[in-house]
Amino acid sequence: MECHLDVQGEFSLPQHHPVPEGFMNCVQCHDPHGEDIFKAAGGLAMARQNESCAACHQDQTRPFIFEHEAMHEGCTVCHNPHGSINEKLLVEDDPNLCLRCHAQVQGPSVPAGHIYIGTIDHTAFLQIGTCWTSGCHTAVHGSNIDIRLRY
Ligand code: HEC
Ligand code: HEC
Ligand code: HEC
Ligand code: HEC
Repeated sequence: MECHLDVQGEFSLPQHHPVPEGFMNCVQCHDPHGEDIFKAAGGLAMARQNESCAACHQDQTRPFIFEHEAMHEGCTVCHNPHGSINEKLLVEDDPNLCLRCHAQVQGPSVPAGHIYIGTIDHTAFLQIGTCWTSGCHTAVHGSNIDIRLRY
């Protein structure tokens, strides 16, 4: 942290891995001698990065019958591994987290003020909460029972 001040800043945010508290350390996620210490850059490196999370978070990294393809992009598309202002280390705490990949449908077929995602009108659902806290797509990491990642 003496050299990586920006990282120190991230670990000072309200939600963070308990490194400053001394319960974890940097090398549980980083290989200090590895060639990809700074950024896991797609492909195999990404798989290794997810593996480093799997050591402690098996519920999210086990195989699912209905996978969420977002997981192929790595945990960091949704989580900041060091720290975040948001609960669960999320990079965003509203539906924009999901809308980055699941674009809202636009066009004349969509009534004014309505939010369509895929073929489904989500307007009423999104008044209840986010995509995952509204009680709908609660299985964000993958599901064994529902292709739409519910339950
Ligand atoms: C929970 C796992 C985890 C811990 C603990 C962790 N890191 Fe990271 N770190 C990552 C991941 C994953 C990335 C890649 C982030 C990305 O690609 O967006 C990363 C990226 C970085 C980077 C690249 C710059 C950046 O911010 O993206 C530096 C430098 C770094 N970490 C240093 C540290 C230091 C120093 C510590 C200990 C004080 C530490 N990390 C602890 C997972 C971790
Ligand atoms: C060495 C074990 C370890 C590793 C490796 C690890 N974590 Fe964690 N993770 C923890 C601990 C401990 C906590 C704090 C749990 C708590 O406070 O209840 C945590 C918390 C989290 C949380 C927040 C959970 C919550 O309920 O707020 C997320 C999200 C998370 N980790 C994601 C990741 C990701 C992504 C990686 C890989 C880049 C990773 N973790 C690597 C041990 C680990
Ligand atoms: C598509 C976005 C996305 C990706 C990719 C993702 N997560 Fe998550 N994760 C979430 C959301 C959203 C939550 C909050 C769920 C909730 O509060 O019900 C969450 C919650 C968590 C939690 C807290 C679980 C709990 O019971 O509170 C952990 C730990 C976690 N994720 C680890 C991971 C790991 C490890 C990876 C990569 C293997 C990963 N996540 C990839 C979106 C994602
Ligand atoms: C990095 C990109 C990415 C992010 C971020 C992302 N997804 Fe996905 N998601 C995908 C891809 C790719 C698929 C598979 C192709 C498809 O069905 O659109 C998918 C599939 C799904 C499906 C299954 C759709 C079906 O009918 O088969 C649901 C539900 C879903 N995602 C919900 C979410 C939720 C909820 C979030 C936010 C927590 C989220 N996604 C964030 C990329 C992403």
